[in-house]
Amino acid sequence: MKIILIGFMGSGKSTIARLLGKRLNLPILDTDNLVEKKAGIITPEIFEKYGEMRYRELEIEVAKDLRGLTNGVIATGGGIILNKIILEYLQSNGGTVVFLRTQFNEVVKRVSNNSRTRPLFQNKDKARKLFDFRLPMYEFYANVIIDTDHRSIEDIVKKIIESATLTS
Ligand code: S3P
Repeated sequence: MKIILIGFMGSGKSTIARLLGKRLNLPILDTDNLVEKKAGIITPEIFEKYGEMRYRELEIEVAKDLRGLTNGVIATGGGIILNKIILEYLQSNGGTVVFLRTQFNEVVKRVSNNSRTRPLFQNKDKARKLFDFRLPMYEFYANVIIDTDHRSIEDIVKKIIESATLTS
């Protein structure tokens, strides 16, 4: 089984991927971590030194490397939906794309603690614009949409397992 988690920054992709992986006994992959590994530096440094375009190129390379994957839970970066080819690579051996839909107010609460690590969340108004622009894209690519507000991680994981079993 392969589950690909998409959603805006702060939607809980990495946290949920860890628990899902444990529950399903599947390897957990995180495209943000893989990009950082490839670059040898952390995300804010990639943006600062080489710009967002370079970050996106690295995301594409990472997704290409994952083409052969048949089993796993993949947590993606919030901008993964900007390049159609990425989801094509990630889904090349099948897989259920799950959109963790979270209201913007909730995103702000979750991200404000560690916004330093997120170059595209330095300013709330700009982040709101990005959020509104991307929302229909996440919805477009999703096989399953889970609303995460007012739900426990346990409950979200349970729902994803039920839906992924039905769609895979
Ligand atoms: C980004 C989200 C980040 C990371 C990078 C760009 C985005 O990942 O990939 O800072 O464009 O939304 P998270 O969604 O895991 O924070």
